[in-house]
Amino acid sequence: MNVELKAQTIASIEAELLIEILTPELLENHPHKHLCERAGFKAKQDTINAMHSHARLLVGVDELKPDLIRSAVAVAIKAIKNFGYKSAKIGSYGLENASAIVDGLILGQYSFNEYKSKHDEVLIKNIYISNEDIDDESLDYELLEQAIHNATIIANATNMSRDMVNTIPHDFTPSTFAYIAEELAQTHEDLECLVLDENALKDENMNAMLAVGRASVHKSRLIHLSYKPKKPQAVVSLVGKGLTYDSGGLSLKPSTSMVTMKMDKAGGCAVMGMMKAVSELNLDIEVHGFIGGVENMIGGDAYKPDDVLASRSTKTIEVRNTDAEGRLVLADVLDYAQEKVKADYIFDFATLTGACMVALGQYTTGVMGHSNKLKHQIFQASNDSGELVGTLPFNRHLKKLLKSDIADISNVASKPYGGAITAGLFLDNFINDDMKDKWLHFDIAGSAYTESAWDCYGYGATGSGVRLIMSWLQQNIEK
Ligand code: BES
Ligand code: ZN
Ligand code: ZN
Repeated sequence: MNVELKAQTIASIEAELLIEILTPELLENHPHKHLCERAGFKAKQDTINAMHSHARLLVGVDELKPDLIRSAVAVAIKAIKNFGYKSAKIGSYGLENASAIVDGLILGQYSFNEYKSKHDEVLIKNIYISNEDIDDESLDYELLEQAIHNATIIANATNMSRDMVNTIPHDFTPSTFAYIAEELAQTHEDLECLVLDENALKDENMNAMLAVGRASVHKSRLIHLSYKPKKPQAVVSLVGKGLTYDSGGLSLKPSTSMVTMKMDKAGGCAVMGMMKAVSELNLDIEVHGFIGGVENMIGGDAYKPDDVLASRSTKTIEVRNTDAEGRLVLADVLDYAQEKVKADYIFDFATLTGACMVALGQYTTGVMGHSNKLKHQIFQASNDSGELVGTLPFNRHLKKLLKSDIADISNVASKPYGGAITAGLFLDNFINDDMKDKWLHFDIAGSAYTESAWDCYGYGATGSGVRLIMSWLQQNIEK
């Protein structure tokens, strides 16, 4: 599906269908007001009225605001994508809503069909956006064009990340991360890719990461993708948890909790999407993506509760629960990333804890770190991108719960409350002192995957993190 801006009035664009976004107030003055009344359409949020004989699809919003428009446009495109219309047109609703319209279209039409023998084919091929605003004024073409161009790149990168997360664990192992990263570096000249296999990981003393993957027949991989423009404004490292499957290991998950654990690679997939977007947007920022690709399985060689691991940082970790594996992988990858790249910012993304969902609900990404300034910037990026975030506060009392009697630190806290925060605090132990204020941890356990549609997402992966961080990069560093 192709989304294209036209410097034309909405009426003069040739398309088979007009998509109209209406508030209840706008409906009052609509030429088809009476037909809508008869159909019981009141322009309530996310309701539609398909007027096929008038070649119009009306969709309701409570107000003309980006978050509401994104969701409504997604509902509209979901309703018509398989109908047989080849083209549709939509007006502009102010520059501030342009990227929300693109998100609604591209993220809303997404569905994952890889394993269905009959594909849910998207028949609609072209969507034209007019630069004519609802009050008949035409908006600045160049600004609108830029917004639509950028949003299209970011939404497509988000969908790539969703495809990866949705792929089943049989077809997506740590070496698949490496394969896709290498392919990305081939199609994007400005991306470089380095892959570390298990021998290289041993040479790097990444024993915590290696322990987690030891029982799997699919060997672990560390992927380092880099994007280095000539005179970058800043250097940013992005680190992703890439558990291609999390069975829990010997601390085996109950079977109902194991279903959906293909999503445990979502942090790594988000980083991959971010790298694709950074390159396609030609950002003036040096960006490094590090992904720890590992499968957490059981077996005769599995790492065990009671083991002590010597992490890359030399800190020793007592394993008390093999299902708290993501933090072990991230401990080593964060340490590696900090040594290899002197970054101005380092962010990590991980489906790290069920506790994050308990704390914030399943729609919201948990943000943790020491810098209030950075967290504030992320709130701004959340507003701009429409991705929901909530901060979870560190404190020294929770930090103490990670004490171990036999090693430097335990991989789980001694008390069950505040599990998302204690996981974040565990990672904090592997952040160097000079990086404390430059680091943020994003727990995407809830926001990365859904089993029922919400906002502009259908069943499966949401690609959470990609839009958020692209907004942050563009707002705070790109000038
Ligand atoms: N991958 C899980 C976290 C998770 C749970 C993500 C549900 C998405 C949905 C993680 O590796 C894990 O198992 N965490 C444990 C930590 C506990 C053992 C301290 C958890 O959340 O139960
Ligand atoms: Zn786990
Ligand atoms: Zn996990």
